[in-house]
Parts: sequence; structure tokens; C-alpha cells
Amino acid sequence: MNTINSARWITSVLEEGNDSCRMFTRTIKTGKEIQKAIFRVTALGMYEAYINGNRIGGEYKFMPGWTYYDRRVQYQSYDVTQYIKDDEIKVEVYVAKGWFSGRIAGNTLTDKTGFALACTVDVDFADGTDDFYCSCQKDDWKAAKTAVVFSDIYDGETYDERIKPYDFKPVTVYTGFNANNIIEQDGEYITEHEHFKPVSLIITPKGERVLDFGQNMTGYVRFTVRAKAGQKAILSHAEVLDNEGNFYTDNLRSAKQRVEFISNGGTSVYAPHFSFQGFRYARIDEWPGTPDLNAFEAIAVHSDIKRTGQFESSDKMLDKLYQNTIWGQKSNFLDIPTDCPQRDERLGWTGDAQVFCKAASYNFNVYRFFRKWLHDVALSQGMNGAVPETVPSRFLYAHSSSAWGDAAVICPYQIYVTYGDRKILEDQYESMSKWVDYVMNQGRNPYLWNTGSHYGDWLALDVPFGTYKGKTDIYLIATAYYANSVDIVRKASKILKKNKKTIKYYDDLYENIVRAFRKEYVKGDRLLSDTQTAYVIALHFGLLEGKDKENAINQLVSKIHEFNDKISTGFLGTPYILHVLAENGHSDLAYKLLLEREYPSWIYPVTKGATTIWEHWDGIRPDGTMWSKDMNSFNHYAYGSVADFMYEKVAGINPDESDPGFRHILFKPVICKDGSLTYARSSIDTKYGKAGSVWEIRGNKVYYTFTVPKKTTASIRISKTYEVNSGVYSYEEEL
Ligand code: BGC
Repeated sequence: MNTINSARWITSVLEEGNDSCRMFTRTIKTGKEIQKAIFRVTALGMYEAYINGNRIGGEYKFMPGWTYYDRRVQYQSYDVTQYIKDDEIKVEVYVAKGWFSGRIAGNTLTDKTGFALACTVDVDFADGTDDFYCSCQKDDWKAAKTAVVFSDIYDGETYDERIKPYDFKPVTVYTGFNANNIIEQDGEYITEHEHFKPVSLIITPKGERVLDFGQNMTGYVRFTVRAKAGQKAILSHAEVLDNEGNFYTDNLRSAKQRVEFISNGGTSVYAPHFSFQGFRYARIDEWPGTPDLNAFEAIAVHSDIKRTGQFESSDKMLDKLYQNTIWGQKSNFLDIPTDCPQRDERLGWTGDAQVFCKAASYNFNVYRFFRKWLHDVALSQGMNGAVPETVPSRFLYAHSSSAWGDAAVICPYQIYVTYGDRKILEDQYESMSKWVDYVMNQGRNPYLWNTGSHYGDWLALDVPFGTYKGKTDIYLIATAYYANSVDIVRKASKILKKNKKTIKYYDDLYENIVRAFRKEYVKGDRLLSDTQTAYVIALHFGLLEGKDKENAINQLVSKIHEFNDKISTGFLGTPYILHVLAENGHSDLAYKLLLEREYPSWIYPVTKGATTIWEHWDGIRPDGTMWSKDMNSFNHYAYGSVADFMYEKVAGINPDESDPGFRHILFKPVICKDGSLTYARSSIDTKYGKAGSVWEIRGNKVYYTFTVPKKTTASIRISKTYEVNSGVYSYEEEL
């Protein structure tokens, strides 16, 4: 029996200033011996549940997770039989605002102040009968105020240990939501992962006491504190120190990231319940006595995704960059793909997810993670197919940006290619086709997207300092992405065996867009925008051919030379630039950009001590000063998309679109001929087993070894092509 849909959402009248958390409780007396009890629970907000005083599901954090709450909320199910004695079930659930109505929810909610609980206990009795008990307005459900006196995702938590639940009041039914929206857990659970002891206690020039955990991350500090009743332990969190070595919080904008614990006397262990921080450093603002480093531990918290990819090379800085992409992902895969975990944003920006999706899918198994998020993407779409810029969205309106909305098409297809499961395309097909319909209807010409405002090549360096939007024409970008999305939808139509008419429709639409793109944007031997990103996107999406293609390659190379052999691309050009160079005869230049140490480059932040991927190429400038505090995250995974180049080109491990999920593998390593990289080793755990590639240059020879998992085949393309079955294959060739 599953009765959660019979439960009512219950809440309690909230008051200004003391509404951070309520404890909802009821004691059930069944009058009969209980044989089995299943507890199902969810919240509009975040919950922590107890049955007969035992914490239930404590290994999961920030439940019930973040979905597009207007349409669906996940519930979790726990077998609680072991906690039941006799015929009594005491339910206690703490509920805080969390993503539902904390500051992160913005001001678009119809009911801004609320949070609510829905739960049910389904019981089998020893006498063979059964019954269920739901949250509802009657049956002595009560709500009390709690020790969590302040809680907000951005701002942190204040916990007064002296307070036991008090001020019990009857509950009311929350009418804002329909119980039918309660669904089973769709995504991965959020759990605790790495634990870090502080590497040092720094006394800054300003005299601040700062703990350095050595790694930028998302999570919280758990500490043990011995104090007298009323004494406080207060921590503030930050990602970096400034040029002088002081604690730097300006880039957090309005997010306070402050945790305050008030002791009830004695020794306590504490970590925030309903808030997480993006940090490497924690400043001790108040502490009873002298802090002991052993009292602190930072815990990284993220969705429980399984690591699948590995990469190492002869260049330790490149390896660090790769590790930083892993940390960028861990820090921003907290139930949904977020832009960043620290400032007053932490949102599911669709463009960021789209550019990083491929790398993410090799680094970790993110099938379930993306499946859940993409379901929310589909539900968030407007009637006209518009995709909000962030999902779950607090900015629901009819307009969407190109390259951000295209996430609705690009992500499902990438997940299909990496994992080989058509189900994701079946689930998303309607959403994907609605998006291209939306784009088609944006202007008078159905083959160009030349209307509206777009983020463009966000944060590119080809514009005057301080400008966010890159120089590349936004409509050139929009039309190129439109072509790419239609191309994907037509491929999906074929894979899903849609009827001939549908397939022809998308084939024709695609041809027309490509023709319109060339007519509009090819200007002699250049494109309308003479920028690195314009050439990269047109080439990567296959929009040019013959002489136009040749010209674009040459222009791209000369644009890079003009920029002192460095990249000037932003969010959109960056993920593809190295691929385009390597695929078009310029692997030497691709390696030069990849291994570059000087600003602007991927490795430059590594030289500045980065342990995650920065939002800006110049987050910390060569002279040590910071980029604008308005937009300066040190944990933004977007540029971490470079990891997909390490897997696909450096190591050469590629899935084959026509036989996806690595059932047929294409090994095509690109060797670094000038000797600046002499060795690379990488593997991806596929559902068939490990696909691996290693190469090493010794003398004037390259030695390769490829691992082809069971039940798969591979094409190995080095100077010759070998078609092989599972096994381990080694080759040597002249350099
Ligand atoms: C976010 C980005 C996002 C962008 C939209 C920013 O505030 O942090 O990563 O994609 O807005 O351009």
C-alpha cells in the first residue's frame, strides 16, 4: 500500500522573524501489534524526520530535493519497522524553507512565507490487517518552534541548542499545492562525501582566524565545541583570500554563508541542517576558548553520482586542471546542475548545464541525475515551448535565450550518446521538439533566430573590460544553435522511428536553416562576426563547407594568433575551440592553448592555486586583484567542459553516436607532436566495463594501449584503422 497521495499538506501559521523551521509531530497509538511500518515523507521546504526518536534517512541531505515544485515534489520512503516497539509511532519532522521559500525562491512564489509537510505511515499488523496514518489537520498533529531559529540556503543557519521544541500549535492545511504532485524519488540522493581536516589555521593581516581546508567545495563544516550554556561558535565561509591574504567575501554578493551555534553547555557536535556553503576557508568569528584544529572538519556534500572517468598525463598542471573539473562538478551537482554554490544564485542555469553536460557524463554516471532535471526542464516549458533560463525556475516568463534554452535538446541527446538508453529521448522528445517550434516562431523568418535578447558568448574576452556579453553577434549564435538543435531533433526522430513525414519535416527544416545561416552570416572569406567564437561555433555545428569552411578554419587560426596565441572565447566558444582545431589539422595549436600557463588559459587559474574551475578567465588577475565582485565565482563548472577534450581527443576515447553507450567505441587519440605532452592515460567506466586508452612518446616512437570492454567493439584510428572486439591492444608507431 502507498498512501502518500492521500496525505494533506500541513503547515502552521508563520510569524515574522521566527519562521525558519517548525517541528511537526503526532503520536499514533494503533492498539494492535505492528509487524511492518513504512514511512513516506516529503516537504515543501527541506525536512529532517524522526520516528520514535530515531533519525530516519539521515544519510540523505536536504530532502526532498529540488524539483519544479509547482508541478512535482519527490517523496522518500523508509522502512521504519525496526524503530517501532509495541503499538506506538511517534512522528517528528523538522521542516525549513530550503529551496521552496527561502531567499533562493525569489519573489515569484504565490505564497512566499510557507513551508509544509506531507507524510504517511503505512502499517501491517500482526493479525493480518493493515491501516495508514496521514498528515492531516486533525488527529492531534501539532507544530512547534525549534532550535533552528534562522535558516536560509544563502545565508546559513542559527541554531540555539538551548531550545527544545516549544509553543505547540494545531496545524492547518496548506492549500497552495495539490497532493497529486507528490512523486517517487526521481533523481539521485544528496549525500555526504569527502571529509577534510583543516590544513592550517591562518591569522590574516587583519587578524582574522581562518581555517583553510585546502579544497574549494560545497558542503558545511562540522565541529565539536565545548562551551558554557549561551556561549557561541560562529563561522563565516569564503572561497578565496584576497591579494593581502585577508578573508574575501565580496564575491558572495548578498549571501552571508554564516553559521551560528549557541551552546546548551557541555560538548556538542554540530553542522547546519538546512543550509550549505560554497567554501574553502572558514573564518572563526566567535569561539569559546582557543580553537583546536581537530575540532573542525569540512564535509563535501553532493548528489550521489558515481565516478566513471579518470585522466592523467605527463603534465601535472593539466592533471590538476582535470581534477578541478571534477571538483567543479561535485560542487555544482547538488540535486540539480547549478551555476555556482556560493553567491546569492546557486541556480539551475540551463546554458551552464548544456556546455558541461558531455564532460559531466564522462566524469561521473549522471544518467539519473540528468533524467530528473530534464523532466523538470520539460515541465517548466511554456505552452509555446519556451525554456526558462534556470530550472527549476524562479523566473518563469515567455522569453528564453539561445544556447541556454537549447539545453532542452542538447542534454538529452548527450545523455543518450553517453549511456545508450533511448528512454531519455522518448521522455524528452516532446520537450525537444517544442523548443525548436518555439525558436521557429520567434521572428518572421522561420529559418533564422534574429529576434530577442540573448546572453551570447557570455564572459568572452573580445569586448572591453567589464562587459559580460562577448562580441560575437547574438543572432549568428542563435541561428547556429537553432540549426544544431533541429539537427538533434531530426536524429532523435530517426532513432525513435517517427513517421516519414516528421523526419522529412526536420530534414527540410535543417537544410533551410543551414542555407539561411550561410546567406546571412558568411561575408566573403569571413563571418559577420570576425571572432574566435563565431568560427568555432559555425565549424563545430558543421554549418560550413568547401571554401567557406576552409576560410573559417584559417580565420580562426589567425584570430588566435592575433590574440597572442590565446583564447578569447566565452561560455559558448570555449567548449568547442580545441575540438575544432584538432579536427581541422591544428592539433599543435589546440595543445598550445590547452597547456598554456599564462592568462587567459585554462591552466592559468591552476598557477594561482585554484582547486575548482573559475567563472572568469581573470577571476584573480595576474597582479593579484579581483575581477568585479558582482560576478566572480571561483566554482563555476562551465569552462570545465575542457575535460571532454581530454577524454575524446587527448586520450581519444569516444562513444559512437550510431551505436551509443560505448557499445562501439571510437579510439582516436590526438598525439602532441611537439613533445610538450608525452604521456596520457584515461578511462571511462561504461556499462560494459572500462574503456581505456594510454599513449606514451619514447624517443621517436608512440606506444599505445587500448582496452575494449566485453561485449563491445571498437575502431582504433591511429595511422591505420583497426576494427577490433573486446580485449587489450597495443601498438607502436613512428612519431
Ligand atoms: C550565472 C551564469 C549564467 C548567467 C546567464 C549568471 O549569473 O552565474 O553562469 O549562465 O548568469 O548569463
